[in-house]
Amino acid sequence: MLGLKLPTDPRWVNIVEKNIEEILTDHAYCEQKAASTAISLIIGFPEKSELVKEMTALAREEMGHFNMVHDKILKRGWVLGRERKDEYVIELMKFFPKGGSRETHLVHKLLYAALIEARSCERFRLLSEEIADEELSEFYRNLMVSEANHYTMFLKFARKYGKKEEVDQKWEDLLEYEAQLMKDLGKKETMHG
Ligand SMILES: [Fe+2]
Ligand SMILES: [Fe+2]
Repeated sequence: MLGLKLPTDPRWVNIVEKNIEEILTDHAYCEQKAASTAISLIIGFPEKSELVKEMTALAREEMGHFNMVHDKILKRGWVLGRERKDEYVIELMKFFPKGGSRETHLVHKLLYAALIEARSCERFRLLSEEIADEELSEFYRNLMVSEANHYTMFLKFARKYGKKEEVDQKWEDLLEYEAQLMKDLGKKETMHG
C-alpha cells in the first residue's frame, strides 16, 4: 500500500488507544506542519506556478484538518498542548545530503513530503480499521480518503521538476531507508512514533 516497504505493526493502535489525548495533540501538529510545508514551498519556489497553485489549496486543506482535530480535542474537554517532537521526521530528513542545486533541494523536499503523507495515510487507515472509538474510526476513515492523493501529488511534482529516472531511484532509496526507520517505531502514541 502506498509504496511503503514495511507496514506499521497493528499493535501500535493498542498503544494509541490508551492515550487519545496524546495522539490527537500530536496529530493536530502534523496537520499544522503539513500546512507549513506547503507554505514553505510557495516561499522557496514562487516561480513554479503550478506548484504554488496546488500548495495554496493544500495549505488551506491541511489547516482545515487541523481545525477538525482541534475541535475533537475541545469536544473532549481538553486544550491543545505543546508541540511534540517528531523523531521520525527528524531522522527521515537526514537521508538526502545537504547542499546541491536549488532544483535538487526542491526534489528532496517533495520526496520527503510524499513519504510523510504516505506514512500518515497508512497510519490513518490503521486507526480507522482498528480503533474501538467509533467516532474516531469514522474520523480517520474520512481523513484517510482526503490524504490519499497528497502523496501522489508530491511525487508527481518531484518527477516534473527533476529527472524522472533519478527521482524514481531516489524515491526507491528513500522508501528503503524509511522501512529501516520503521522497524524501531510503532511503539509510541504519536502519529509517526
Ligand atoms: Fe491533512
Ligand atoms: Fe496531507
